[in-house]
Amino acid sequence: MNIIYDESSRVFRLDTKNSSYIIAVVDKEGFLCHVHYGAPVSDTEMSIFTRQKEYPFIPGDYNRERAAFHDGFQFEFAGNGVGDFRESAVAVLDEDGGTAAEFFYRSHRIFRGKPKLPGLPASFADEQDCMTLEITTHDPVLGLDAKLLYTVFEDSDVITRSVVVENNSTRPIRLTKIMSMCMDMDDAGYDLLTLHGSWGRERHIERQKLRHGKQSVGSTRGRSSHQEHPFIALLSPNASQTTGEVYAFNFVYSGCFLAQVEKDQFDFLRVLMGINPQDFAWLLQPGESFTAPEAVMVYSAEGLDKMTHTFHDFYRNHLIRSPYRDKKRPILINNWEATYFDFDDDKLVDIARTAKQAGIEMLVMDDGWFGCRNDDNSSLGDWWVNENKLKGGIGSLVRRVNELGMKFGIWFEPEMVSMDSELCRAHPDWVIRLPGREPCLSRNQYVLDLSRRDVIDYVYESVAGILRSANIEYVKWDMNRHLCDLGSAFLEKERKGELLHRCVLGVYELQERLLEEFPDLLLENCSSGGGRYDPGMLYYSPQIWCSDNTEAIDRLAIQEGTALIYPLSTMGAHVSDCPNHAVGRTTPFETRGHVALAGTFGYELDITRISQEDRDMIPGQVALYHKHNDLVRSGDYYRVASYNDNRLYDFYGVVAKDRSEALFTYVQVIHRINMRSLRLRIPGLDADRKYRLEETGEVFYGNTLMNMGYPVTEISGDFRSRLLHFVAE
Ligand code: GLA
Repeated sequence: MNIIYDESSRVFRLDTKNSSYIIAVVDKEGFLCHVHYGAPVSDTEMSIFTRQKEYPFIPGDYNRERAAFHDGFQFEFAGNGVGDFRESAVAVLDEDGGTAAEFFYRSHRIFRGKPKLPGLPASFADEQDCMTLEITTHDPVLGLDAKLLYTVFEDSDVITRSVVVENNSTRPIRLTKIMSMCMDMDDAGYDLLTLHGSWGRERHIERQKLRHGKQSVGSTRGRSSHQEHPFIALLSPNASQTTGEVYAFNFVYSGCFLAQVEKDQFDFLRVLMGINPQDFAWLLQPGESFTAPEAVMVYSAEGLDKMTHTFHDFYRNHLIRSPYRDKKRPILINNWEATYFDFDDDKLVDIARTAKQAGIEMLVMDDGWFGCRNDDNSSLGDWWVNENKLKGGIGSLVRRVNELGMKFGIWFEPEMVSMDSELCRAHPDWVIRLPGREPCLSRNQYVLDLSRRDVIDYVYESVAGILRSANIEYVKWDMNRHLCDLGSAFLEKERKGELLHRCVLGVYELQERLLEEFPDLLLENCSSGGGRYDPGMLYYSPQIWCSDNTEAIDRLAIQEGTALIYPLSTMGAHVSDCPNHAVGRTTPFETRGHVALAGTFGYELDITRISQEDRDMIPGQVALYHKHNDLVRSGDYYRVASYNDNRLYDFYGVVAKDRSEALFTYVQVIHRINMRSLRLRIPGLDADRKYRLEETGEVFYGNTLMNMGYPVTEISGDFRSRLLHFVAE
């Protein structure tokens, strides 16, 4: 059993391989106390750890200093407006205008398996591999129940959490805030690690000291966003890649989120993660319930590497469902940076023909094939083929590409509508907008109101109709703007605050339906590059386009931040042309290939027009991909040195689970003159095994490579790279 309830002490203990999570039911009211999360403990008698007998709480049922109690107690699910002045986990607007909520223990169930979260992406496991604790808490004044769900995964150091709120009263009530996880813990001088970014500069790692007050990251943009990421980690002060404690939290959700840590007057911390309460209000009629998305919690006592491995394994084994999860993906060539909107069927077939000769396996036709779309001013929503560009229609093009021995993939941006489109003219009320206000355009487009069934059905049929019409094996599902002007012609006024979440649910429903009808489809999500790269989307697509910035040096930090949490098998990474279209930098073709090998691998260039020298390198890169991709997809990722920190070079790699081989990548960003070789550690090997460096034939014991490192010598020139492939003898 990895969840136990000790009846006499009223304590729950949830055990993973290397952690314990402890909750106590306290006092006759049934306050739920968070007692511990971290390294394993064996006791269940926890009364002194709940601190309710400490000054100034003043023990005893009738003389308790209640406000002081509420303000310092370590709540498992913090209520609102009843004496706890820290950020709450839940808030309501009741029929009388009240906002208070306070939940007490009522009952619990412990069972094998994990219930599905209706309409939401969530981790999963076979019944025998996980166990769930469901604690039902109750607000007797509101008549609301909150079911706190915790699932412990036997094979992983992971606990997931979610909350289901049920209105068991006779009156409607609006839920204005619902955090999926809330945890009060002692501070130990932690640092806060977050991922920040922008378009073309996603998920850069940032670490800072926690201070008193609230520190948060969040999104109010309708997507999980480029700017901040639904992830926070608390790190003990000296935590490194290999040492120290890490508490990490990741949100399985693709819309607006809040992730916050608050350090209070007692140096206690409250960690919260959930749907962003800004612009959120969900009406619960009597008998209705609301399910909050899942939060994933990982504890590591061995630094960031361990945290990363735990997330990677967990997402590979318990979140990604695609049949492609454990397979090599076809090497694709995408025509976006090759042609932008300026292409026709012959041009695409030319690209496909040359690509095929180089060993590339799939052509992806990007934006511009539908309606009258020759630039980004029109036609989103008009998902019919532009036969001026694709003469003979999509069927003919796909056949021609297939006849070359290439697969075919296609781009959609289903959630959007151009102002200049047949769809917008026919259904202006399908646009998200506020009455009386001119809605904001972004990239000349609006967002469709996916809270509407008719819109969802139209969008679904548009995409599915095209897929039914030809042998299309891959879809790039894009989403290129934020949501604002949050009005819906459809939702009644009490439900307007549901729009943002309903749009996310609409996307989930659409992708679920698509995968049901086309179970073999390879889906790649995308949002102006990596603006919706989150565990929610990974439930539907095994890969996500990492960034519109395809430049190899900029990609180092983007891929490093992404790989902190997400498996390399999920990172869309392509070799593109130089000078790079986004930043104008010129790097060697070889380096671009090495950097893209850390992801799904593909090309984003006009292969018919690049230099012969570059083109001649493609078959070699393709061979490297085939040789190493099993390892890259399934191995343990290690981040050894980061250009972001040292401003000179990057060094990272992947080690096979059985430690039989390792592939490390050295990227020398700046060539500093007169440098001695750098001894770079090769972690994760077997100490007593011998490893041969394939490129040189040198042989070393694992412990030599792990503890002394391998001396990598300088290469002349900037932006140069080298692969080191170690194979156990
Ligand atoms: C977004 C994507 C790009 C490309 C364009 C097409 O920016 O991230 O890869 O598909 O849209 O308009």
